[in-house]
Amino acid sequence: FEYAAPANEPVLSYAPGSPERAALKKQLAAFKAEVADIPMYIGGKEVRTGNTVDLRPPHEIKHKLGHFHQGDASHVKAAIAAALEAREKWANMDWEQRAGIFLRAADLIATKYRFHMNGATMLGQSKNAFQAEIDSACELIDFLRYNVHFLSEIYRQQPVSAPGIHNRMEYRPLEGFVLAVTPFNFSAIAGNLPTSAAMCGNVVVWKPANTQVFAANMIMKILIEAGLPEGVINLVYAGGPLIGDICFADPHFAGIHFTGSTGVFQTMWKTIGENIHKYKSYPRIVGETGGKDFVVIHKSADVDIAVTALARGAFEYQGQKCSAASRAYIPSNLADEIKSKLVAEINTMKMGTTEDFSNFINAVIDERSFDKIAQYIDNAKNDPKAKIIAGGNYNKTEGYFIEPTVIEAADPRYVTMCEEIFGPVLTIYVYEADKFEDLLTTVDTTSEYALTGAIIAQDRYAVELATRRLVNSAGNFYINDKPTGAVVGQQPFGGARASGTNDKAGSMLNLYRWLSARSIKETF
Ligand code: ALA
Repeated sequence: FEYAAPANEPVLSYAPGSPERAALKKQLAAFKAEVADIPMYIGGKEVRTGNTVDLRPPHEIKHKLGHFHQGDASHVKAAIAAALEAREKWANMDWEQRAGIFLRAADLIATKYRFHMNGATMLGQSKNAFQAEIDSACELIDFLRYNVHFLSEIYRQQPVSAPGIHNRMEYRPLEGFVLAVTPFNFSAIAGNLPTSAAMCGNVVVWKPANTQVFAANMIMKILIEAGLPEGVINLVYAGGPLIGDICFADPHFAGIHFTGSTGVFQTMWKTIGENIHKYKSYPRIVGETGGKDFVVIHKSADVDIAVTALARGAFEYQGQKCSAASRAYIPSNLADEIKSKLVAEINTMKMGTTEDFSNFINAVIDERSFDKIAQYIDNAKNDPKAKIIAGGNYNKTEGYFIEPTVIEAADPRYVTMCEEIFGPVLTIYVYEADKFEDLLTTVDTTSEYALTGAIIAQDRYAVELATRRLVNSAGNFYINDKPTGAVVGQQPFGGARASGTNDKAGSMLNLYRWLSARSIKETF
């Protein structure tokens, strides 16, 4: 059937006095009044092991939100077995019926569980109301609906036939199971990675980040309510290496859909390589693995656009987006004005819990992350080649709070211009305004990543030059905008180099990876 491109889910504002703000506050209070007991889901059964891990809001670490039950090797094996058991029926189910389940899930989020999804993301991942709305409501709904649209387009693509010959293409799912490993920073990505593979008829073992379990559990419950059959997606909690070792050693392993760090992805790829002789087919390896995303400001730039791109691009969700602006190049002619406006903008950003809707900055995800970011800041404080021009303070007594911080580097290859920090730290470098072409070479060669980037310029020649010279520097390139906030169906998302396999999330390119086509020729 044909499912036309849907409209993107409208974003609610949560303005003071709005009904959505009241509803979300009520849901936050309800979550805080209980202690959630979160099971794994294997073969449609809730599994509790008693080996629990506590969940706490990163901005209020003394409060226990709940706990989840961790599994061991036997649970991972049971999840694989349950997936394989469900496979034949699921793969052979009418595609229209499969699609209906995901469209229903999207509608359930839009109409019934929007505030559950947003509330879970706000408390579990310390994301403010607006950031949660664009992620766990709108983007997740868009992924579900758009992937149905894209898949309906793929299925309709058929080869030509000729007199006496009928040709057709059968878009089969992969022969085996897919492992989905999802990150903490977007509930939409956590929902998209297992469902995009499942929608194509695949069965899935899903391992979310521990710090995202509160929202992952909600996604799973919604999929079950929408009619997802038992065993199609199995949600397991266990150590990443344990899950990887078991899944990658299994002859039925058919693919991995991953978002996370470059190091983990490369280790997985090696393990898969070592096991390659065991598999029935070459597995599909799809990963999105981080960025060191740039904003290049040209001497012709509109200063206000530049400042907004930096402030929002770098500090929304505490800079914990793989797309976050983390290195900026500022031309000497505009440097003083941009720096003072940026610092003034940062000084308006309130920091605190997500329950207080006036806070723009919340906590970073966990202690490990906090310590790593704080170390980068301390090193900069002690380095004559770097100067902190905004923020620089941090505190983990109540939650993992780090001020939005700007480091000015004297060297365009200073460590924080090159390495992914994944926190509220932006490094700027002031370049000689007339050496724009040289600067573009520096931008391209500074980082191993190539996820997102932006050029801010009024001069069309500068825009064109940057677009061409930075052709391989970013998979998502923005002109006069911040480098974050890709919208499903509008800006398919992903990058190459160390940022991943660039199988654009929210596009046909991604869905093709979960299909294994068969050409059928019939003569008569
Ligand atoms: N898709 C997310 C963004 O563009 C990561 O910010």
